[in-house]
Amino acid sequence: MLCCFSLPLLFPLLLLSLLFIPPVSTVSIHAKKQSQPPNTDLQPTTMVPSEAEILFKIMESMSSDQTWRLSYPNPCKPASSWPGIECKPGSDNFLHVSRLDFGSFPSPNCKKTATFPTKVFTLPYLQSMFFLNCFTHTKTSLPFPNSLSNSSLRQLSLRSNPALVGPIPPQLSSLKSLQILTLSQNHFTGPIPVEIFSLTSLVHIDLSYNMLTGTIPTQVGNLKNLLGLDLSYNSLTGPIPETIGQLAMLQKLDLSSNSLVGRIPDSIEKLKFLIFMALSNNRLGGNFPKGLSKLQCLQYFIMDDNPMFVTLPVELGMLVKLQELRLANSGYSGTIPPSLSMLMKLSTLSLQNNRLTGEIPTSFASFSHIYHLNLSRNLLDGVVPFNASFLKRLGRNLDLSGNPGLCLSSTGAYRVKIGVGICRNNVSLSQPLNKSQAPPGLSNSFFLFGVLGVFGLHQLSFLL
Ligand SMILES: *[C@@H]1O[C@H](CO)[C@@H](O)[C@H](O)[C@H]1NC(C)=O
Ligand SMILES: *[C@@H]1O[C@H](CO)[C@@H](O)[C@H](O)[C@H]1NC(C)=O
Ligand SMILES: *[C@@H]1O[C@H](CO)[C@@H](O)[C@H](O)[C@H]1NC(C)=O
Ligand SMILES: *[C@@H]1O[C@H](CO)[C@@H](O)[C@H](O)[C@H]1NC(C)=O
Ligand SMILES: *[C@@H]1O[C@H](CO)[C@@H](O)[C@H](O)[C@H]1NC(C)=O
Repeated sequence: MLCCFSLPLLFPLLLLSLLFIPPVSTVSIHAKKQSQPPNTDLQPTTMVPSEAEILFKIMESMSSDQTWRLSYPNPCKPASSWPGIECKPGSDNFLHVSRLDFGSFPSPNCKKTATFPTKVFTLPYLQSMFFLNCFTHTKTSLPFPNSLSNSSLRQLSLRSNPALVGPIPPQLSSLKSLQILTLSQNHFTGPIPVEIFSLTSLVHIDLSYNMLTGTIPTQVGNLKNLLGLDLSYNSLTGPIPETIGQLAMLQKLDLSSNSLVGRIPDSIEKLKFLIFMALSNNRLGGNFPKGLSKLQCLQYFIMDDNPMFVTLPVELGMLVKLQELRLANSGYSGTIPPSLSMLMKLSTLSLQNNRLTGEIPTSFASFSHIYHLNLSRNLLDGVVPFNASFLKRLGRNLDLSGNPGLCLSSTGAYRVKIGVGICRNNVSLSQPLNKSQAPPGLSNSFFLFGVLGVFGLHQLSFLL
């Protein structure tokens, strides 16, 4: 289908186009120089003194790496600019800071007493700012100046700052140019401020791994340009809002590990471009949306650990792009829909720890990309439909244990560690080998030998 990028393609694209807003390095400054007419030959090499002064103050409060003022009196000067800084020539013939990076080598380290430098928001040309692993010792909040009428900030990234505490400030909504907001792995508490959903230029929000509470605001649906929404690993409650269906461009949705309740909203069917959906470890229940099969781009559907207590819908088999389907530990009952065998791109199928009954669909034997198959701890019965080459391919990544009714046919001497016994009514290797009893063509010893040859002698203990 035309709509679907594959993930390996999507993420580099996202990264290139968004996460790294093209750095304006000294290289591009020189390149510009050549293409410009001779009369503007004088490229800016200095900063507005007031802007440089803000920069000195920020650096001095953040980093003990250098005596910044002395070592780099002209922070933006091409070829000798500070580490962790990028500058851009402005129309006013001065250089301006466009990007600041702290905490990740080769950017400046953050000293233990560093607190969030609110002054960064007064740098009018700043487009991207990164604080990675920076605020680790001294507790600090994310304070905002009251009026920020003119910020150019497009990317704000605060990641892995365990000392960054307090609420996410609603004033973030004054960053009108913001496209990427990453506040992952900090200690933010309180609700998600509804104000941030007025930032309609946002394409990516990641608030994962904090301690956010409250519900997901319905206003989330305002962000029509959003490609990625990650609110995973917080303490969010309430339902997934129906308005999520308005995020028509969304490619990645991760709401896992919260305390969300209710059904997956029916509006989800409108997320035509969704590639990745993770809803694991919540309190979601009830039936799947009727239009689930409309998610024709979906490659990853990860929804373990929810109290669903329904049957598996046949429609799952229509998500033909799926590579990973994880629905473990969620109380599913009934039989495994044979339609699942239409998922020819599946590499991982996890259905363990449910109450699934009946046989493993024989058509599962034709999964050609499957790498990891876990059907353990269900109530499945009948003969395992996999042949030796299938079992060999999956090896230890196949788990059928904890299904007392399942058994392997006599040729199942290749039982590796899938946790299934030999079917009783059939010839079994526990009896003395008798060549004339073996099935025509393929003797038991053939299988025994083949298996030993393939898995090596160290696997012998798993055989009968
Ligand atoms: C906003 O900032 C731009 C530079 O990014 C500047 O040219 C413009 O004059 C500023 N406007 C106001 C109202 O401060
Ligand atoms: C095992 O089963 C697969 C799928 O049904 C089939 O393509 C393959 O030829 C079989 N291999 C053997 C050794 O029987
Ligand atoms: C299958 O799932 C069970 C239960 O969660 C787990 O203990 C086991 O390690 C899994 N097996 C494989 C091969 O992943
Ligand atoms: C025994 O094996 C035959 C084929 O060899 C199969 O049709 C039958 O279902 C098996 N019986 C049991 C109880 O596993
Ligand atoms: C092996 O099979 C033959 C013919 O079916 C039978 O006569 C013989 O008793 C069997 N031997 C053993 C040890 O089961």
